[in-house]
Amino acid sequence: MSSSSFKIAALAGDGIGPEVMREAIKVLRVIEKKFGFKIEITEAPVGWAGIDAAGKALPDDTLALCRKSDSILFGSVGLPDRDPTIPKEQRPERAALLRIRKEFGLFANLRPVQLPKALAHACPLRVERQGDGIDVLVVRELTGGMYFGQPKKTEEISEGGKTFQRAIDTMVYTTPEIERIAHVAFKAAAGRRKRLTSIDKANVLENGILWRDVVTRVGKEYPGITLEHMFVDNAAMQLMLKPTQFDVMLCENMFGDILSDEAAALAGSLGMLPSASLGVTAGEKTFGFYEPAGGTAPDIAGKNLANPIAQILSTALMLRYSLGLNEAAAAIESAVKKAIEAGNRTGDIFTASETGAKRVGTKEMGDAIAAAI
Ligand code: IPM
Ligand code: MG
Repeated sequence: MSSSSFKIAALAGDGIGPEVMREAIKVLRVIEKKFGFKIEITEAPVGWAGIDAAGKALPDDTLALCRKSDSILFGSVGLPDRDPTIPKEQRPERAALLRIRKEFGLFANLRPVQLPKALAHACPLRVERQGDGIDVLVVRELTGGMYFGQPKKTEEISEGGKTFQRAIDTMVYTTPEIERIAHVAFKAAAGRRKRLTSIDKANVLENGILWRDVVTRVGKEYPGITLEHMFVDNAAMQLMLKPTQFDVMLCENMFGDILSDEAAALAGSLGMLPSASLGVTAGEKTFGFYEPAGGTAPDIAGKNLANPIAQILSTALMLRYSLGLNEAAAAIESAVKKAIEAGNRTGDIFTASETGAKRVGTKEMGDAIAAAI
């Protein structure tokens, strides 16, 4: 990319969002100096922070800022305790997060799960099941399926003299939606170990049958990639039994949501899992949305306990995919690795029995990573 000045929107959101965002921005400032580019970071409220500041989970000004930015660095939104105070359509998950995904056409969600050797103890699996390390990329379709399909509602119905409620969600996928995410997954596999496992429930769901057909057809264009299909229930089990069999896992929206959390647990903690949500590439630019895959964790918010690594690694993905700053992205990833190897552990990846491990807070982990750049 020719430009050396970039504009990003930083939306920290709720819960642990602001404190992990602070560490990500700290790291970004160090990277900026080291590599000599300029990133204009504008912060804006979203989620409950948006509701408190401007009456909406996605305030108009925040959306306008996103529109004129090169990418969005996002924290997390949602505070379940406050949910009952507003209608469900206005709650942050739907009104901000899902809305941004749809608004910007961010159909491709990449969640790279890696268990660093130094964190073998934090993996719930016995060491002999970890093989040479776990390294899985979950490619999740992000703007279709049951999270968006219509009708979506809860209604009152009467049957046999009784009145009760019925909730309806609809799973819908079209051929083009499956094709475009399949291409993303095959291309990602081409840059990795060249294995793609496509996840579906073709033994029960119409969606699963279509998914399998379309992915198989797209696969013919990628003869160098080994394609395998797996039912989602089996995939959940296989991840536990033998995660090293997976390279890229291609999933529809809900299956990807579930399996990426499961995979993240294998890699030590959800606090380690970054994500990139990408739209269609326009020219040399890919607008993207970068967020840790974990939630707001209200129970530990504001206590300097959260692991900032997912947010920091999401920042690295942003540099790579939206800003074209590959070297800077790699520098962040290697600094994270160094900080871990040096024994820094937030609570989620700390085990008392591990020699050389020191328990640190959010800020100290951010400092250690910034110092390792
Ligand atoms: C995720 C989250 C979101 C999702 C929630 C917060 C709506 O779980 O990004 O995985 O389900 O997509
Ligand atoms: Mg999730």
